[in-house]
Amino acid sequence: MCNNINYNNVLFKMQHLLAVDNFLALHSYNTACYAVSFTNLLLETGAVTEKELSPGYSEDLMFMSAFLHDVGKLYVPDVVLYKDGHLTDCEWDMVKLHVTEGQKHLESLFANGSCSRVKGMLFGAVVQHHERWDGYGYVCGLRGKDISLVARIISVVDCYDAMTSLRPYGARRTHDEALEELNRVSGSQLDPFLVDVFLDGVKTEKIILKAQS
Ligand SMILES: [Fe+2]
Repeated sequence: MCNNINYNNVLFKMQHLLAVDNFLALHSYNTACYAVSFTNLLLETGAVTEKELSPGYSEDLMFMSAFLHDVGKLYVPDVVLYKDGHLTDCEWDMVKLHVTEGQKHLESLFANGSCSRVKGMLFGAVVQHHERWDGYGYVCGLRGKDISLVARIISVVDCYDAMTSLRPYGARRTHDEALEELNRVSGSQLDPFLVDVFLDGVKTEKIILKAQS
């Protein structure tokens, strides 16, 4: 049985995130909606099973995990996070730290007890969402299926939303441009099987995306 205190802590953190950073909150919300829609398609078509996703998988947990994937960005100064222009190596390192800051934050949320059902998925999402299929991501340089399935799913929708969302920096891409880019990084940055299912789901309108024209 899940520890209610931990569960409530997670919900409280989601509320906090919504209140303090509009850009991050919107990206987190979109990523969570897309992750749920994409995962439901993967489950419905038998491409993945709940057991492969996580013991005790639920749609709510997927939503929470995707919603909090970038929670560590709350600890990166806005002047760096939303800088309009090229990041220095030092600034880039600060952005990358959002993964370990997010991990530390989750550890504090679960400090008073453990709930493996909630914890496993949340940690997978927060700690591994910048790993790459080819092993050149961060923080650990995990490769292929060594990266949790939850993190690989979130990476696909995270990339899509990051490209198509309004941000204080960088150019916003159109829906079609973003799909083209997902195709381009399939097999290097992203799990090629998941990208194929995602693109097909979008084409057949089984996955609905806000930026879709
Ligand atoms: Fe991130």
